[in-house]
This record gives sequence, C-alpha cells and structure tokens, in this order.
Amino acid sequence: MRTQVGIIGAGPAGLLLSRLLHVQGIDSVVLENRDRAYVEARIRAGILESHTVQTLRDVGVGDRLDREGLHHTGIHLQIPGERVHLDFEALCGRTVWVYGQTEVVKDLIATQLDEGPPLLFCVTDVQPHDVDTDSPRITFTDADGVAQELQCDVVVGADGFHGVSRPLVTAATGGKVWERVYPFSWLGILADAAPATDDLVYAWHPDGFALYSMRSPSVSRLYVQVDPTEKIEDWSDERIWDALDERLGLSGWSVNRGPITEKSILPMRSFVSTPMRHGRLFLAGDAAHIVPPTGAKGLNLAVADVTLLATALVRLLQEKETDLVDAYSDTALRRIWRCTHFSWWMTSMLHTVSAAQGGDDFDHQLQLSQLRRVFASEAAQRELAENYTGLPIER
Ligand code: FAD
Ligand code: PHB
Repeated sequence: MRTQVGIIGAGPAGLLLSRLLHVQGIDSVVLENRDRAYVEARIRAGILESHTVQTLRDVGVGDRLDREGLHHTGIHLQIPGERVHLDFEALCGRTVWVYGQTEVVKDLIATQLDEGPPLLFCVTDVQPHDVDTDSPRITFTDADGVAQELQCDVVVGADGFHGVSRPLVTAATGGKVWERVYPFSWLGILADAAPATDDLVYAWHPDGFALYSMRSPSVSRLYVQVDPTEKIEDWSDERIWDALDERLGLSGWSVNRGPITEKSILPMRSFVSTPMRHGRLFLAGDAAHIVPPTGAKGLNLAVADVTLLATALVRLLQEKETDLVDAYSDTALRRIWRCTHFSWWMTSMLHTVSAAQGGDDFDHQLQLSQLRRVFASEAAQRELAENYTGLPIER
C-alpha cells in the first residue's frame, strides 16, 4: 500500500487531519487499533471552542453539530452561597458549543467511510520505520491477521498518550518532557436527567471541586473531585448525587437527578513533550501533550495542532516547501503552553488539596480571593473568557 500521509490513530486529531488533507487533495490512510464501536463510545470532552466548530464546518462535518449542538454564551463560576455568570459574548465576542467528543468522532468516521480516504480499524503491531528518510513506512497487521506495509511521504502520530509514536520521537531527538500529576481525580457521570442549569457551573467547595455540564436537553454530565486512591465501586449513585448536591447546591436551586448511565474516575495531569517532530514523523494531539480537563482544552488543542499541521503538510507535499513543517513544532507549542497554563490555572483555582496531600487553609483563602477577583473584575473575566473560548490559531 502507498499513500502520502500515514496517520496512526482515529481519535479527533487523526480523523480531522485526514479530512483536512482530503479536502485539499492530499491522500492519507488512517490506522486505528480499536474497533469502530469502541472508538465511537469513548466518553470524553464536551466543549468545542469557536475555531473548532468553524474548522468542522469548513470541512463539511458540521451539519449535525449545527442541528444538535448546544450553543453556550458563558459559564457560571461558584463558591458556597454565590454563583456568578460570565458572559463570554459580551466579554470577548466568542462563544462555545456543547457537543460531545463522541459525536464529533462519529461524524468524522461516518464522513470518512462514506467519501474519504481509507480508515482501517482493528489493526495491530503498528510501527513506523525510516522516519529520518524521505520514504517512511508503517508496518502493521490488518484486521484479518495479514502483515501489511504502508509506504508514505509523511507519518503522523495522532495515537494519543499511550501510542507508539511519541517514544520514537523522544528517543531519536533526546527530547524534553514536562509533567505535573495533580493530587486529585475527577469522578464523572452521565445521567438521563435534564440539566438544571442553562450554562455550565464550575464550583469551588471545601469538600472539592464540582462541575455541572451536559450533553443534550435531557442528558447531564457531572463531575466531582475525588482523591486519586478512590475506587469507583465505593461511590454508589446516592453518594455521588449527595456530593453533587452539597458542592453545587444553592438556596432554592438543586441538581436534577436521574438514572446514571456511565461512571468513571479519571486522573489529572499536565504533560508536554518536545519536539513534536523527528524527520518525517510528526506528533499531534494527546500524543504530544495532555492537559487537565478543567479548562476544556484537550480536544480543542488536538484540533488546533492538526489545523496547523494540515497547512504545513499541504505546503510540503504540493509546493515542496519545508518552511511550515520546519516551524510546526515551535508554532504549535506556543498555543500548547498557553493552554497548559490556562488549564493549570483553572485547575489550581478550583480544586482543594487535602491536608494529607500538603494543602491547607492558606491555599483555600488564596483560591477564594482569586475567584472573588474574577467575580468583581471585568478585566479578570475577559482574560478567562478569551482563553476559555479559544485564542485565534496562529498560522
Ligand atoms: P485520542 O482521542 O486519545 O485518540 C488516539 C487514537 O489513537 C485512539 O483512537 C487510540 O485507540 C489510537 N491508538 C493508540 N495507540 C495506537 C496504536 N499503537 N496504533 C493505532 N492506533 C492507536 N478533554 C476535555 O477537554 N474535557 C474532558 O472532559 C475530557 N475528558 C477526558 C477523559 C478521558 C478518560 C481522557 C483519556 C481524555 C479526556 N479529555 C478531555 C481529553 C480529550 O479527550 C483528548 O485531548 C482528545 O481525545 C485528544 O484527541 P487525540 O485524537 O489526540 O487522542
Ligand atoms: C464535559 O462536558 O465533559 C466537560 C465540560 C467542561 C470541562 C470538562 C468537561 O471543563
């Protein structure tokens, strides 16, 4: 098999890159080690920045998003007894959409299988080779167990945090990694319950952070901060709802309960790996960086990476110019560090650290002071709004 761009991973980064290249006349093949049902069912992010929505529309996969996505013009921030609304539209002229990552992935897969380049599920033993030459290859075993080789001009590792691509880049370049593991996790649920709020609620509480989000007018997505050692079996539905009530409740208002259809605990980390390229192997999305979900940036950052990378690859493969691929890693990293800072800042402001983990009341007072500053200052609100809704993509 031969293609121009061999893409490893059918998450949002790999699928969208393939689509961006396809509409500009560049061939690709996407190799995914899971099956379609698994990839489409993986519950993850829910907030899309303006530029993410625009990019999806531009490549012809925005129709269902425009029909079913929930347009949100702000968020609520809360401390016990006080909830303040931030109006993003008034603060910075940009807004966000609530549309699950699962739906984005379903839309991209449906379009790809319908009219796009090949997308192969259930492949194993995926391995890039010769990436320091102009003729890299990917070897893999296909779904029927047959050994295959894909010859390419370029290989893109969009294979997430646990993929095969980043270790190759790091080993070959002697790259540098920055990592922070936070001393707390999120317990997330999906519930068949109408959201009791118009916009998302991010709540600071002495018991820990809580977030009220949603997926549709009849499905809520909620999170509570828990200790990383907590086991999901120890959290009955009743215990989860009680924690949400305690942390999100306001007098005269409460969380809407309903059957919980999914629950899981996710660890929180910040991670940046540089450079994002070795020879003809490029990294994009979670393969190169992870942010804690408090700023709703993970998926959006993956989209920003591939938007930049697609432009650079078109220039390389159609015009034979290397300037944009040479600049890719540094250009992408500027946005990645901005989002890493914003996600760290939101996380640090809203999560309480237990005494056992070294936290104390001094930290709590600083957090409350920072939140009250955001409540009171339009300048502080605008800074949050500009980052949350997504800064323009640098090209
Ligand atoms: P991924 O979505 O991880 O896609 C990588 C793909 O590569 C996967 O399909 C994987 O199966 C495939 N793959 C891996 N290894 C191989 C291989 N060797 N060969 C072939 N294929 C391979 N972000 C938020 O903003 N808000 C959230 O609430 C949120 N929740 C999250 C919850 C969880 C549990 C996780 C893991 C992430 C969450 N994120 C969240 C982050 C967000 O989902 C990611 O940033 C986003 O998925 C990045 O997309 P990606 O395409 O780079 O990587
Ligand atoms: C979600 O809806 O899953 C979600 C929303 C906002 C976040 C994180 C997750 O910051």
